[in-house]
Amino acid sequence: MEQDIPPPPPHVLIFLIPALGHVNSMLKLAELLSVAGLRITFLNSEYNHDRLTRHADVCSRYTCRFPGFQFKTITDGLPMDHPRVGHRFDEVLHSVKSVTPPLLKQMLIDDIKPPVDCIISDGFMSFAVDVANELGIPIIYFRTISACAFWAYFCVREIIDAGELPIKGKEDMDRLVKNVPGMETFLRCRDLPSFCRAEDPLDRNIQLFMSETRSSPRAQGLILNTFDDLEGPILSQIRTHCPNIYTIGPLQAHLKTRVPSGMQSTNGFWEVDRSCMAWLNKQPPKTVIYISYGSITTLSREDVMELWHGLVDSNKRFLWVVRPDLISGRDGDQSQIPEKLVEGTKERGYMVGWAPQEKILEHRAVGGFLTHSGWNSTLESVVAGQPMICWPYFADQQVNSRFVGQVWKLGLDMKDHVCDRKVVEKMVNDLMVEKREEFVKSTDRMSKLAWKSRYLRKLRAQPPPPPPTHRRCPSPF
Ligand code: UDX
Repeated sequence: MEQDIPPPPPHVLIFLIPALGHVNSMLKLAELLSVAGLRITFLNSEYNHDRLTRHADVCSRYTCRFPGFQFKTITDGLPMDHPRVGHRFDEVLHSVKSVTPPLLKQMLIDDIKPPVDCIISDGFMSFAVDVANELGIPIIYFRTISACAFWAYFCVREIIDAGELPIKGKEDMDRLVKNVPGMETFLRCRDLPSFCRAEDPLDRNIQLFMSETRSSPRAQGLILNTFDDLEGPILSQIRTHCPNIYTIGPLQAHLKTRVPSGMQSTNGFWEVDRSCMAWLNKQPPKTVIYISYGSITTLSREDVMELWHGLVDSNKRFLWVVRPDLISGRDGDQSQIPEKLVEGTKERGYMVGWAPQEKILEHRAVGGFLTHSGWNSTLESVVAGQPMICWPYFADQQVNSRFVGQVWKLGLDMKDHVCDRKVVEKMVNDLMVEKREEFVKSTDRMSKLAWKSRYLRKLRAQPPPPPPTHRRCPSPF
């Protein structure tokens, strides 16, 4: 008797922009799709793949668990020793755009086997749509930023056309912006994406961010790492341009329900220092404020010192991530940290180079998060129910920070976005003591909603995933 041979699982190419914030969420999506039985090729930049695999055997963690998973790399067009943090990150974006398109096409034709059934591309690389269309491959965008930041980016053209840009100096920063529908009553010039601060609206970064975001309707769908209870009204605005939106967030919560604990991935470009967990275990509940600036933000030495003074003066316990490249203009490792600062942390503070952030945010000793408002950090904090102090630096962070403080009431937006020791001291005290109750009410509520998000409910309703095989499984979308 003839037996039916099941068709092979669909093959999805995940193609991402070279930034850790993006790598983290793309890997999570790749993992979820693999759990659902899809075959995945993860196309990362050579530089970031090297960083990702330097401290942990990330590759085999995926390829051993999922036989259909493979990593591939592509150049971002810059030498390996080129700095890719702080303001130098823009150079990466411009370089990728000019160098990568023919290479991507070549790889899809010659190198990536079996042929790809669908591309999930970072929505910041519109050239991927051109390549996909040429080769007849369906393409979906994944924007790893919040819906609110995406919408602000999307509306920059209207803001410019209405003469709301450029911003005319410091005194203009508190002017309300009228041309981002849904945000007219609270979005100030200072909350616009940082690239809007350029004096010339034709500045190449404004043009880049604007044109890339405006290209989103060209893809067949748009995936956002968010959930409807958090960003519903803004999602409705985006749907008027991009009707096929998949709000699949919070990705880390999905993974926690689908992947057995112990197998969940932690991803980073630095070696994770887990010693802080032992220190945290010794601290009383909800007494520690956790401080981190994500993977590419850099601070001036003056800002670091203001922050340190503010923390010490607040008399609160703190756990602080000081990445080896956190302080701008200095090379090397922890030796860049002023001696005074290291001494000052010994009493009731702890510093690490790179932390297991998601675990820290869930720890019973942690009671707040001072963050740069990167979207992954913000969502991780929402899921863990931690109130935030937002000190945004660039790109989407300003918009996220305004939503955290003004719309979702999940924390405080750093006054004027300027770091001053008095401001830090007061904000830490407000967050951890004075205003704690009012924030905790909203953070608890939003954390519960995050855990109940639509796709999470859907996934929970399904039976647990079978061990990975080569059979066809339904897409989680
Ligand atoms: C970048 C942009 O800066 C950010 O604005 C955008 O939203 C996404 O891309 P990044 O600055 O790295 O990302 O910030 P964020 O999005 O918060 O991502 C940082 C990730 O690194 C988080 O997943 C966080 O858990 C992880 N992390 C950070 C660690 O695992 N350990 C640490 O010590 C610090």
